[in-house]
Amino acid sequence: MTDAANALPPPVESRLPVDNLSAVITLDGVSKRYGADSVAVDQLSLAVPDGELCVLVGPSGCGKTTTLRMINRLIEPTAGRILIDDTNVLELDPVRLRRSIGYVIQQGGLFPHRRVADNVATVPRLLGWDRARVQSRVDELLELVGLDPARYRRRFPHELSGGERQRVGVARALGGDPPILLMDEPFGAVDPVTRQRLQQELVQLQDTLHKTIVFVTHDIDEATLLGDRIAVLSRGGVLEQYDTPEQVLGRPATPFVADFVGTDRGVRRLTVLPIEEATLFQPPRVSPELTMAEARAAAAGSDSRWAVVVDEEGRLDGWIDLAPSRVGTVRGNLVRFEVAVPLGTSLRTAFGEMLQHDVRWIPVVEGSRYLGVVTPNSLHAAARRSPPAPEGDGDRAAPGDRAAPGDRAAPGDRAG
Ligand SMILES: Nc1ncnc2c1ncn2[C@@H]1O[C@H](COP(=O)(O)OP(=O)(O)O)[C@@H](O)[C@H]1O
Ligand SMILES: [Mg+2]
Repeated sequence: MTDAANALPPPVESRLPVDNLSAVITLDGVSKRYGADSVAVDQLSLAVPDGELCVLVGPSGCGKTTTLRMINRLIEPTAGRILIDDTNVLELDPVRLRRSIGYVIQQGGLFPHRRVADNVATVPRLLGWDRARVQSRVDELLELVGLDPARYRRRFPHELSGGERQRVGVARALGGDPPILLMDEPFGAVDPVTRQRLQQELVQLQDTLHKTIVFVTHDIDEATLLGDRIAVLSRGGVLEQYDTPEQVLGRPATPFVADFVGTDRGVRRLTVLPIEEATLFQPPRVSPELTMAEARAAAAGSDSRWAVVVDEEGRLDGWIDLAPSRVGTVRGNLVRFEVAVPLGTSLRTAFGEMLQHDVRWIPVVEGSRYLGVVTPNSLHAAARRSPPAPEGDGDRAAPGDRAAPGDRAAPGDRAG
């Protein structure tokens, strides 16, 4: 290399410090050996599509950190190729490469003796931005991660909580607006409540930023919550399965994966399964204008003791008990639902609402239109249902919970 190539690269004004990088990451037969009999990663091949969040998950020592650090060349592979788009990272200047790849580690990895603003300003300054631009970028990033710049700018890392340090770590990694983020167990050192909040914030951030993210964790729940795709690794960096959370939980590819995701994978799947219209339970629907006798007649033929009250425009009014002792009008007997959820909500959320409000029917709406109800049985059926096979020959069970005894209980506990 010439002296010029070893000097600091010139300031780059483009969004991407390395020209023309978008962000498809391809690992092609990548291995890392430490000595003759120590294989950290073994011929790993996988591709992370542009704008997706891929989680590397597996037990401690399975090669997750090694894999991550080979992408930004903090570790050099023993064999194989790593491409960003079509460029072998080994052909890129490592310093410039790392400026186009944000890197977040546990505890944020902040410089302890530098203030928050200086930590966040690291890459913008390396890129040669002027003072004003750096300052406004720092404030913008702090706001992005939910920290008030006026309060936090001048603090030192030791003056922050674990969650705040982690947010600053994310802000710093986003400094030069890199297309790629590598995150190594970033939320591993914070308490469970803070961790959950940081996970939600990352989901929201990714909704707007669409970075290509490789996220490392040993926690399968975190993996299924965050990942568009999950790579499950076993010891020696062996790829056991690379697929969507739904497939990994619903169709573990190997005994290792089945064991790793655990016996409660059915419950875990509720987190990744959205409510679908076809699987909703359809109790009889009656108009609020009817008398109770008319409502019973309208619901005759159904074995349900309760009916959902829906107005002419298809909007949900509530529900009624169809028992013969109930007289008068539907309106006079109407019970409002305490909660309704939009179509597409996760079954896990619907289940949570069911428990919190102690009700058995959770009505599902799309805009103002009522679609049907989620019941304990529909949750059960969904958790047991296999996801469709990739070829499309799925074995979805019928919704089939119409006459299930569980649903004969009252939809809400106010029915007495
Ligand atoms: N510098 C090193 N020298 C020798 N072995 C190492 C080195 N770094 C990591 N390893 C080994 O490589 C394997 C994978 O490590 P690592 O990638 O850190 O795993 P993980 O992040 O999944 O916990 C482990 O068995 C670890 O002991
Ligand atoms: Mg690690």
